[in-house]
Formats: sequence, structure tokens, C-alpha cells
Amino acid sequence: MSSIEIDTVSMHYTLPNGGSVHALDNVALDIRQGELVSILGPSGCGKTTLLNIVAGFLAPSGGAVRVDGQRVTGPGPDRGMVFQQGALFEWLSVERNVSFGPDMAGKKKSQTAARVAELLKVVGLTGFESKPVYQLSGGMQQRVALARCLANDPGVILMDEPLGALDALTREKMQGLVLRLWKETGKTIMLITHSVEEALLLGERLIIMAPRPGRIVKEYRLDFAEQALKQDPRKVKATQEFVRTREEVLSMIWSMEEAIMGHDAVTETASA
Ligand SMILES: Nc1ncnc2c1ncn2[C@@H]1O[C@H](COP(=O)(O)OP(=O)(O)O)[C@@H](O)[C@H]1O
Ligand SMILES: [Mg+2]
Repeated sequence: MSSIEIDTVSMHYTLPNGGSVHALDNVALDIRQGELVSILGPSGCGKTTLLNIVAGFLAPSGGAVRVDGQRVTGPGPDRGMVFQQGALFEWLSVERNVSFGPDMAGKKKSQTAARVAELLKVVGLTGFESKPVYQLSGGMQQRVALARCLANDPGVILMDEPLGALDALTREKMQGLVLRLWKETGKTIMLITHSVEEALLLGERLIIMAPRPGRIVKEYRLDFAEQALKQDPRKVKATQEFVRTREEVLSMIWSMEEAIMGHDAVTETASA
């Protein structure tokens, strides 16, 4: 299990025209071992950039990320990613997708087979082992993606809009699955989502980011995830406290989006 320390991370992208984008400004965040943190913010506020820096796909322009005290300098098996879609090998079977990591790592086939069977049971895909992934629905594919990530047994799981492409009902079911997996495996999870409901329901802590430059503007401690483990998540979403917090967060995000649109209108007029 792993803790994550995001130590005043900044990111500037250099553009081909010589300009630059200030994508992250001094982002500081400590995530304790086994914590589930959700991150919410209007598009362009640097969520994906931050996750890619923690994953080690991008090097920050300033600051550092440490996982269990070790500075991140590239991708590693201690951190698993789950993307919105498209990261599976569609022509391979469910089983081969899930065993891909352990196979690459040279793990014994017999051990891997038992582990894969167990994981497919956890995500409700027993019986689909030999199906090629392209034949599965979107929700099932995301369950394969979760199982594949868990097969590598990373201490940290990084999720970028993992349920974003699913229909509403499937998405609700998958939220329950993510909650259960988090509870059962004790993984440290960073979850990026566009859905305020999802962020509130799943996060023990909710981080709100704002753009230009991307930064953290507010943080909530929440116990809806704990509640949703004990009762129907839909009931939790209907509680007064949930609805009140949802409205508060929604208006915050809306006003940021309005400010962005105003900003764009001004820049467009200026450059017209
Ligand atoms: N490779 C890149 N080159 C230049 N600018 C980028 C690149 N990736 C992202 N950006 C810019 O950085 C900002 C943050 O982007 P991103 O991290 O994708 O935000 P989010 O995931 O919150 O929508 C945006 O203004 C985006 O246009
Ligand atoms: Mg993004």
C-alpha cells in the first residue's frame, strides 16, 4: 500500500508557436495510504496533467511527486492506470487482457491463472474469460480494465474519468463496484471525474481545481463513501446533506465555467 505526496508541482507546456500554457501552479496534496481522493474541476484545469505526472508519464516543470517517499521519475508497477476507454487490447480475450501485466512481468502461468479467475469473479465477469474484448459492452470493458489494473497489484490506482463513457445506469452500478474494490483491496486511489455526484459519492476527500493556471481551490472531507458501503448508494445520494453539498459544488463549478467562457469571449474579441 502506498501514500502519495504531491509537493508543489507546477507544469508549463511549451507550444509549437513558442508560447506556453501554465497547466499547473504549485499543486500540493498529500494522499494517505488507502485513501480515495476524487478530483473535480472544469475542463482544462489540469486534472489529466496532474494524474499523468503522478503516473510518471510526464515530468513536472517544478516540484516533485513521491510515492511511499520515493520520487517518481517514470511509470512503474506501483501505480496502475484506468482510462475512460480504449486502453484494452480489443482483439485479445478478457482473460489475456487481465493476465497481460503478470505475463509481461514473467509471473508463473499457474499462479496468474488463479489470480485472474479470482479478479474476474470480483468484477462479475466469470464466464466471459475467452470472449474477445470488442464483443463486450462498455460497462463490461471497464470492468476488464479494473481487473487488469488490479492484476498488477499496484499500491496506487489512478483513474481518469473511468466511468465517463458509460450510460447512467451502468455508471451507478460501476460506482458501487469501485467503492467495494476500494474497501476490499485498501488501494490508494486518485479518481478524476466530471460528475459531481460521483466525486461526492466515492471520495473520502474531494479536491476542487480551477483553471488558468490549474490549481487547487477547495477541499472537502466526506463520509458519503462510508455510508454508501453500508446502504444503497442511491439512498445516500438522496440525503439532505448530499443534495446540499452537491448544489454547493455544482454552483462553484458552474461559476468557474462561466468565468472561462467570459474569458474566451474576451480573448476572441481581442484577437478578432
Ligand atoms: N501536451 C500538451 N501541450 C500543450 N498544452 C497542453 C497539453 N496537454 C494539456 N495542455 C493544456 O493544459 C491545460 C490542462 O489540460 P488537462 O490537464 O488536459 O486538463 P483537464 O484534464 O482538467 O481537462 C489545458 O489548457 C490544455 O489545453
Ligand atoms: Mg482530462
